[in-house]
Amino acid sequence: MDDNIKYKVLARKYRPSTLDELVGQDVLVKTLTNAINTNRLAHAYIFTGIRGVGKTSTARIFAKSLNCLGPDGKATLPQVKPCGVCENCRAIAEDRHIDVIEMDAASRTGVDDIREIIDGVQYKPSSARYKVYIIDEVHMLSKNAFNALLKTLEEPPPYVKFIFATTEIRKVPPTVLSRCQRFDLPRVDLETLSKHFKHICQLENVKIDDDSISIIAKTADGSVRDGMSFLDQVISNCEGDISVDKVSKILGLAGKGVVFDLYDNIMSANIEKAVQIIDEQYNLGVDPVLILTDLLEITHFITRVKITPKSVDLLPITPAEQEKISQLASKLSIATLARIWQMLLKGFEELSRVPNVLSAVEMIIIRLAYIGMMPSPNEILAKIENQTSIEVEKKNN
Ligand SMILES: Nc1ncnc2c1ncn2[C@@H]1O[C@H](COP(=O)(O)OP(=O)(O)OP(=O)(O)O)[C@@H](O)[C@H]1O
Ligand SMILES: [Mg+2]
Ligand SMILES: [Zn+2]
Repeated sequence: MDDNIKYKVLARKYRPSTLDELVGQDVLVKTLTNAINTNRLAHAYIFTGIRGVGKTSTARIFAKSLNCLGPDGKATLPQVKPCGVCENCRAIAEDRHIDVIEMDAASRTGVDDIREIIDGVQYKPSSARYKVYIIDEVHMLSKNAFNALLKTLEEPPPYVKFIFATTEIRKVPPTVLSRCQRFDLPRVDLETLSKHFKHICQLENVKIDDDSISIIAKTADGSVRDGMSFLDQVISNCEGDISVDKVSKILGLAGKGVVFDLYDNIMSANIEKAVQIIDEQYNLGVDPVLILTDLLEITHFITRVKITPKSVDLLPITPAEQEKISQLASKLSIATLARIWQMLLKGFEELSRVPNVLSAVEMIIIRLAYIGMMPSPNEILAKIENQTSIEVEKKNN
């Protein structure tokens, strides 16, 4: 087979096909397993969570579980672990089972699309145990479509199951939610992600160090799919020689080094140097607005670390940058950080009103540098106290 055809992106190649292949979704896995084992099944389920945590995968696994006939084709009840080889499992996996209807609400939002479903509900499944309707991105349905669905959802025939998935649960009407069993799929934690990506690299015969894995996991920000796409990018760009530096560069974290430098100069009131950095970046084609955005982000990072020093390990930046953040956190007070944050936000407002963005950003940087020079309220207090005690001493003498 042609290599191009054979190649499948990692996220698709490793789509979980049974519940126990899902990572970081223990509550969901346990509850669904119990429900299937005891054959206590709701008639409608809704899976919600951020992108790439397993909603669509779970919906498809569940559809297979409901209809799996077992390897000998004789099972009469739903199976926790779909066999993957019976006629139903195969047809569902290949997206050609006549009784498992998957619909993407993002492209079919209208009431007519829902009518089609409702009309089909009255007919028994032709070859499956259950007629399963999977509606992905269900929040995209129109108001009328939701209304049309309500009645069927209330009392579907016993052979019908609905499985909904959405990233935006708040856009799903409460009337619909109250008729579904709801599962909130959490972001997958850092450790689980790292372990998962490491495992994938082993399966793919890819050599990668722990620090690189850790950067990918952090940048994934809880989404397994995002992490898998990053891993894809890293593998195809590094050509067998993966390093932290390269990974940072590929994931777009490298540019931040300059911004850290800028931050440092601003905070040490090195105005001339700070402005010079801005100009250099501008000449390199960097959008000055992006620099402000990065400064804002770094300010948030520093403040977080100030409050919880340990959280520095979780930030999606290189170890050297983490060190820098910790240094800045010990140097700057919360009050100063809050002022920087305010001034940056004000700066963004100003940007929309000036004809020359670069000059506006320069002015903002200059003002920020003055904050760096100013003593913090605590320092002023200490100075006043110091002064008063000297005066008192003088008087007493
Ligand atoms: N919990 C998980 N365990 C293992 N792999 C996962 C998990 N979640 C997502 N993935 C990986 O990400 C890919 C996409 O997952 P899935 O389509 O289930 O995400 P989703 O939650 O439906 O995302 P979206 O909101 O973007 O539709 C899968 O093919 C798999 O490679
Ligand atoms: Mg999905
Ligand atoms: Zn099967």
